[in-house]
Amino acid sequence: MSSSLIQNQGKSPKTRVVPFRRDEPGTQPDYFFPAYRATRLRAPSQPLIFLPHTLSEVTGPVFGHSDIHPNDRDLTLQHTGEPLGERIIVRGRVMDGNGRPVSNSLIEIWQANAAGRYAHAKDDHPAPLDPNFTGTGRTLTDKDGFYNFVTIKPGAYPWRNHENAWRPAHIHFSLFGPAFVTRLITQMYFPGDPLFAYDPILQSIPDERARQRLVSKFDLETTKPEWALGYRFDIVLRGHEETPFER
Ligand SMILES: [Fe+2]
Repeated sequence: MSSSLIQNQGKSPKTRVVPFRRDEPGTQPDYFFPAYRATRLRAPSQPLIFLPHTLSEVTGPVFGHSDIHPNDRDLTLQHTGEPLGERIIVRGRVMDGNGRPVSNSLIEIWQANAAGRYAHAKDDHPAPLDPNFTGTGRTLTDKDGFYNFVTIKPGAYPWRNHENAWRPAHIHFSLFGPAFVTRLITQMYFPGDPLFAYDPILQSIPDERARQRLVSKFDLETTKPEWALGYRFDIVLRGHEETPFER
C-alpha cells in the first residue's frame, strides 16, 4: 500500500490529500553552485526541512480568464510598430507528473529584446532598447495543455557573474500548475547555443539529460512558411521527466 493511501486511510474525501512526487536526484539545480555567484549568498546553510503537503499546498490557486488579453501571447503586437529581430513561434505542452496535460495553466514569459537588452530600469547593458518590444507575455494552456507565443528571438547578454560572462539566449517562463507546489519558474534555451558550456546557471543542473529538457527544439510543424521559425518547448511539472526549475 502506498504511503499516501496509508496517510488517507479512514479520512473523509474532503480531507484526503494526494501528495506530489518529490524531485528526482540530479535533475534540479543545486542550491549552492559556487560558479553561479548569487547562489553563494542565497543557498540555505541548514539542511532542508520537508514539510508534509496539506490541503493548502495541493489545491489552488485558481485563475479566471478575464485578466488575459488575446494580444498578451503575441509579443510582436503590443506596440504600434513591429519589433526588430527574428520573429519566432514558441509552442509546447504542459504536463503533470503522470503525463497528463495540464489545461488552463497560467504561463507568463519575459525576455530580452533581439539585441540582448531588457526593457527594465536595472538593465544597463549598452545595447539598444526597442520601442516596439516590452518582452513580457502570458497565456493559458488550452484543454489539451498546449500553449503558444509569438515573439522575437532574444539576444545573448553580459551579466557580470565572472570575467566575460554572457548568458545564452533564453526566455524566462513562470507556470502555475493546479496547485502552489506545482508553480515552476524556469528558462527556455535555443538549440546549438555556443554559450551553454560557459553558463553556470544551466550547468548548475547536474544531470545532462535534465539540462537538455530546457533546450527547445526547432519544430518544422510549428514553423509558418514565409513568416516565422517555430520552436517546441514542452514542460513537465513533476515526476521522472520533470523540467528543471529555479529554486
Ligand atoms: Fe534573463
